[in-house]
Amino acid sequence: MSEQKNQHDAPAPEKFPEKFQALSAPKGVPDYVPPASATFIRVRDEFARQARLAGYQHIELPVFEDTALFARGVGESTDVVSKEMYTFADRGDRSVTLRPEGTAGVMRAVIEHNLDRGYLPVKLNYYGPFFRYERPQAGRYRQLQQVGVEAIGVDDPYLDAEVIALADRCYRSVGLTGFRLELTSLGDSHCRPAYREKLQEFLFALPLDSDTRRRAEINPLRVLDDKREEVRAMTADAPLMLDHLCDGCRAHFDKVTSALDAMGVPYEINPRMVRGLDYYTKTTFEFVHDGLGAQSGIGGGGRYDGLMAQIGGQDLSGIGFGLGVDRTVLALEAEGVTLDGVDSRVDVFGVAIGDEAQARMALLIDALRAAGVSADMAYGGRGLKGAMKGADRAGARFALVLGERELADGELQLKNLADHSQVAVALDAAAVIDAIAAQ
Ligand code: HAM
Repeated sequence: MSEQKNQHDAPAPEKFPEKFQALSAPKGVPDYVPPASATFIRVRDEFARQARLAGYQHIELPVFEDTALFARGVGESTDVVSKEMYTFADRGDRSVTLRPEGTAGVMRAVIEHNLDRGYLPVKLNYYGPFFRYERPQAGRYRQLQQVGVEAIGVDDPYLDAEVIALADRCYRSVGLTGFRLELTSLGDSHCRPAYREKLQEFLFALPLDSDTRRRAEINPLRVLDDKREEVRAMTADAPLMLDHLCDGCRAHFDKVTSALDAMGVPYEINPRMVRGLDYYTKTTFEFVHDGLGAQSGIGGGGRYDGLMAQIGGQDLSGIGFGLGVDRTVLALEAEGVTLDGVDSRVDVFGVAIGDEAQARMALLIDALRAAGVSADMAYGGRGLKGAMKGADRAGARFALVLGERELADGELQLKNLADHSQVAVALDAAAVIDAIAAQ
């Protein structure tokens, strides 16, 4: 009775609008649709595979975290935290933020799950989307994709070299060549404070505009990275961190560079490099590709020896990188590199003419898939010509053609789409697999 009443009281359904206006993705958020999505996946998976080869285990991180984690971990003076975070109150009025990067989340998870109490270093790999409210332009997105690694708990220069060499190998393994590695040391808590004062002394004596002066107060190193000609000229003789390293940092950096030399990983020293995140200490690096215009950084990373303590854990060191998957895909395009086999979707494509043949083909395709063969078939009752077009678009190597006559004979035609040869094969998954193997 009451149900009936409810039904009666329910508002009349709104009239379906004739046509919705088509929506687009939010500004600065890329889609990867086929066939380009195949390159994206290949790059991401190859980077993750290389990380696994080097002993990094996968960690699946939350896409959003408490806002305090990034404020404390990434640094409140950075653009990333002060201007670019997607922060909102959830329905329980907690402030949460879509992750702008992965390192802080990894450290939080390592502390929370006591991974730092076991064998060190803890070596972890992650990938996925990150979110930064940046001004969108070519290669600069609001949803960006990275593959990252973090090696936590051992302050060993050979580990720095491993991480850097791994990044270099990742790019080369997808066929990228037109990039360079820039390297520097940002010192540590022993030598950076004194250097910072020295640099500020130098900068405050210059006729800087008020914005730049403010930057010199908050993070003077950033002024050295200013791209404007007049600022560059004024800071040409500024003191550099690399010339003011303490003995420990100097010895560490020398070992990193000699290990890279020994491994044959090419690099350039860039003593003016500034990274967008505050946690870096000692070894810091960036991979730059010149085919990408302004957004040339395809990946970067470094050591972050104070980060774990800063977010409430033990005072352990760490080093890692984040490789930009979007920009690597763009860099591959800029170099004209296409990855082998990315267009090929399935090996086998079923073409069935008539209802009964269609039903039989569906079973056969299902059995082939169960046996590990990648297979698809034509749908929608197409004729032979239309269905064969599907085989072509699928990039299939073989078409299985089943018409009424073949069905009556308990056979199908296996067409090799590369050489156009054709053989009759029994209508059975094992027979099809044998016939393909024999080709
Ligand atoms: P990051 O330099 O901020 O470092 O980002 C790493 C890479 O992500 C950049 O080199 C770039 O390729 C890509 N990327 C960053 N922002 C964008 C964007 N808006 N659009 C497209 N690609 C972008 C980090 O995130 C650190 N967590 C890396 C790290 C790990 N350091 C130590 N461990």
